[in-house]
Amino acid sequence: MSEFVLGIETSCDETSAAIVTNQGGGLERLKANVIRSQIEHAEYGGVVPEIAARAHSEFLFPIIKMALDQAHVTLEDISAVAATCGPGLIGGVLVGAMAGKTIAMLHRKPFIPVNHLEGHALVCGLSDDIHFPYLLLLVSGGHCQFLEARGIGQYTLLGETVDDAAGEAFDKIARLLGLAQPGGPAIEHAAQRGDPQRFALPTPMHGKPGCSLSFSGLKTACRLLVQRIEPLSEQDVCDVAACLQARIVAEIVERASQAIVLASPETQKSKTFVVAGGVAANTQLQSALRTLCTEVGWRIVTPPPLLCTDNAAMIGWVGLQRLLAGEGGDLLFAPRPNWSVLELSPPKAP
Ligand code: KG4
Ligand code: ZN
Repeated sequence: MSEFVLGIETSCDETSAAIVTNQGGGLERLKANVIRSQIEHAEYGGVVPEIAARAHSEFLFPIIKMALDQAHVTLEDISAVAATCGPGLIGGVLVGAMAGKTIAMLHRKPFIPVNHLEGHALVCGLSDDIHFPYLLLLVSGGHCQFLEARGIGQYTLLGETVDDAAGEAFDKIARLLGLAQPGGPAIEHAAQRGDPQRFALPTPMHGKPGCSLSFSGLKTACRLLVQRIEPLSEQDVCDVAACLQARIVAEIVERASQAIVLASPETQKSKTFVVAGGVAANTQLQSALRTLCTEVGWRIVTPPPLLCTDNAAMIGWVGLQRLLAGEGGDLLFAPRPNWSVLELSPPKAP
């Protein structure tokens, strides 16, 4: 039977609506994925939660309409509504969850609350043929974790950052260098013209056992370096960006090589490594992790760039997977700003 799910994402500064279906294969199943990145925060140098929530409430319904039109479906054709219910900025999450619940209630459809991180974790199944279990690196603006994905709603933590997320380090140093936000793409762009060898910066967890990560010492070292060489020329900015990116990549790759060894026998057998979340769009990180995987004989899977950063396709996709597995929805689900993937459960029947 053909199912269409409306996905809604509003947890940070992207307002997005998508339509996904179970008909067809690969990205053919993504019928629409409309994303509006909020430009309202540009003058503040970071996301202002209150402004984000207001912009979501202003633009979400027109964006949902655009997604329905692009997919040539109406709300009557939709089998379920799935919206991010956390983790994220609570104001934005409430806007998306309330909009989703209202549509679900009015049209008598199930409402499926989706964990944003599970969206990142599973979206590679929309673009690639992938099976559980797999090793997962979730690397975004707020998270940096090595997990084993054993099934829908079933994740085991192998290691995570002890302080900042990698995306946060990119964003904060970009701000310090006077580059645009989000900082990751801006650093990646500047780094193309920079010398990654010019300055010595630390690889924080180098040589330590396990697969925990750390970025805060690197961030401080970068800040001290910038203070030492100020005022920065355009070339200095590119060189600092290149050095920072090289160290973040080195930190993640070294820890990934340990995570591969620490994974359970089932995951070792699957030899599959999925890299997801906004920072997974970084081409240097992708190519360094690809080299690592080639060395150890593992397959590496990364979603296409537009599905790495925040989008509603991943939320609709999780909703669809849960619906197909028999989940009945939960109109009364209370949004959770700090919802961890480790608290998730497999799909539940009504
Ligand atoms: O997953 P995401 O869109 O939002 C969160 O759930 O946090 O990730 C956003 C993060 C930001 O920190 C952004 O700077 C980073 O992903 N990012 C990148 C790149 N594209 C986005 N970092 C490095 N290189 C990129 N190309
Ligand atoms: Zn995200």
